[in-house]
Amino acid sequence: MSPTKKIAILVSGQGSNLQALIDAHEAGQIPGAELTLVISNRPEAYALARAGQAGIPTLCLPKQECPTRAVFEKKLLAALQEAKIDIMVLAGFDRLLSPQVVKEYPQRILNIHPALLPNFPGLNATRQALDYGAKVTGVTVHFVDEGCDTGPIILQAAVPIEANDTEASLLNRVHATEHRLYPQALALLCADRLQVKGRTVIIH
Ligand code: GRF
Repeated sequence: MSPTKKIAILVSGQGSNLQALIDAHEAGQIPGAELTLVISNRPEAYALARAGQAGIPTLCLPKQECPTRAVFEKKLLAALQEAKIDIMVLAGFDRLLSPQVVKEYPQRILNIHPALLPNFPGLNATRQALDYGAKVTGVTVHFVDEGCDTGPIILQAAVPIEANDTEASLLNRVHATEHRLYPQALALLCADRLQVKGRTVIIH
């Protein structure tokens, strides 16, 4: 058995993925993980309330206290080190992490993206897929590297686009898929079952 991994979840908004991780953890589906800290860059993020309800300590690093990315990341790294965090999980976190932070946690930062990367990277991926006329979109969980939505892919799942889909109806199905996939990916990482070879993630 590998030792328990301390997880920090970074959020900015609703926190439905955070909730999925909390629920899966409580159901024993992410063995070897401790949900140690939830960090938000936005005080109004509902994700903070979800963490509070689950009894997970929270930290807020708002813009007023962190006027630059350098200040934000200095405080972030200090908090991560103090809490002895092993793995960072980005769950709707709306800032890019600098290469310096990524280097501190090699293959130890996860992100979830609401499309099948490398299609529709960046913001509003569901809107992009609809506007493009795609018939299928989906969800990608990947390691974070220095780029935006470019790291090695851990898990993907497809979500068909129906003829009468609106952005809201499609987003509902994409979210449901995210909530299934993210706990699975974190469980694999916590069980030391992921090996990165070049761009390929091998699941043992
Ligand atoms: C999700 O769609 C995720 O893919 C994207 O941001 C959204 C966050 O939603 N990175 P929530 O805050 O987890 O509800």
